[in-house]
Amino acid sequence: MKILLTGGAGYIGSHIAVELCNQGYEVIIGDNFSNSKPEVLNKINTIVGKEIEFHEIDFTNKEATFELFEKSNIDAVIHLAGLKAVGESCIMPIEYYRNNIVSTLNIAEAMKKYDVRNLVFSSSATVYGVPKELPLKEGMPTSCTNPYGWTKLMNEQILTDISKANPSFSVVLLRYFNPIGAHESGLIGEDPNGIPNNLMPYITRVAKGVLPELNIFGNDYPTKDGTGVRDYIHVVDLAKGHVDAIKFVETHAGIEIFNLGTGVGYSVLDIVKTFSKVNNIEIPYQIVGRRDGDVAECYADPSKAKEELGWIATKSLEDMCRDSWNFAKNN
Ligand code: UFG
Repeated sequence: MKILLTGGAGYIGSHIAVELCNQGYEVIIGDNFSNSKPEVLNKINTIVGKEIEFHEIDFTNKEATFELFEKSNIDAVIHLAGLKAVGESCIMPIEYYRNNIVSTLNIAEAMKKYDVRNLVFSSSATVYGVPKELPLKEGMPTSCTNPYGWTKLMNEQILTDISKANPSFSVVLLRYFNPIGAHESGLIGEDPNGIPNNLMPYITRVAKGVLPELNIFGNDYPTKDGTGVRDYIHVVDLAKGHVDAIKFVETHAGIEIFNLGTGVGYSVLDIVKTFSKVNNIEIPYQIVGRRDGDVAECYADPSKAKEELGWIATKSLEDMCRDSWNFAKNN
């Protein structure tokens, strides 16, 4: 089976490419390097021991998208390409809506035209908005607090409507919790441009001495130690969930939603302490005010993915902290 991976040079996409190849799938990566580097492709090739087909493409370009489908004999699509910074989306909503919605429409239209029926879409736990009840289950109400989140929720709605109108279409929406960690080779991992927004890349830059200390956004939340609690998931576990989702779409029509998380919440201080212990590096930090838009706690009920995809997260927080540092110190 030949799988198109949009955004396949990115942090999550590069790990999915590796896992798909490990399972014998043929992979085509389409990416415009808007938040990734061409060197990642060589690293993926090194890990899998062969050259993966690559196309530099912007999926908001309909002509280019159709051309790729025309020439490539694609059997299924994993659609990850998109802008993904919450804060930036509040400053640049037009770019976020255009990029994230138009690319999905172009891909869905190309799939219809070229009779490609299987799609796995990269969604986010952000679509649960401010959780009223925990753990989060797929059927719970959705809402968003920022344009990035709305693009994920709108794409979910668009794909739901398309799958209703096209009963042979098979779609899986994967709601990711907080991916951290890196491939055990240390070759691929998360390497954002500029000052990181997310916790783990910030911690690794403090560990490297590039940034002086971590700012912990609030210690007055109603959590066990007052800091925010999230469901951190190893990116390799997350990537394996996509392989299971591809197997699922091959054999099921219609649309299904799955949480990809561990079901366990860790606080910011848990992460800092575990990172320090596993890697033997002190992470200096200061407590600052809460970050706008943050929720106290967010973690998944991943039982639906276990029952229907046969997927569970197997890596520990120690694995996540060790692998994040192993990548960061070499890159
Ligand atoms: N945090 C800090 N200091 C930092 C960065 C983060 O204390 O420098 C804290 C946050 O306040 C939060 C936790 O670390 O409590 C995790 O923050 P991240 O920014 O790493 O992750 P978020 O949970 O805020 O957001 C992530 C993704 C979003 C996605 C969301 C879904 O980055 O894309 O999960 O729940 F929408």
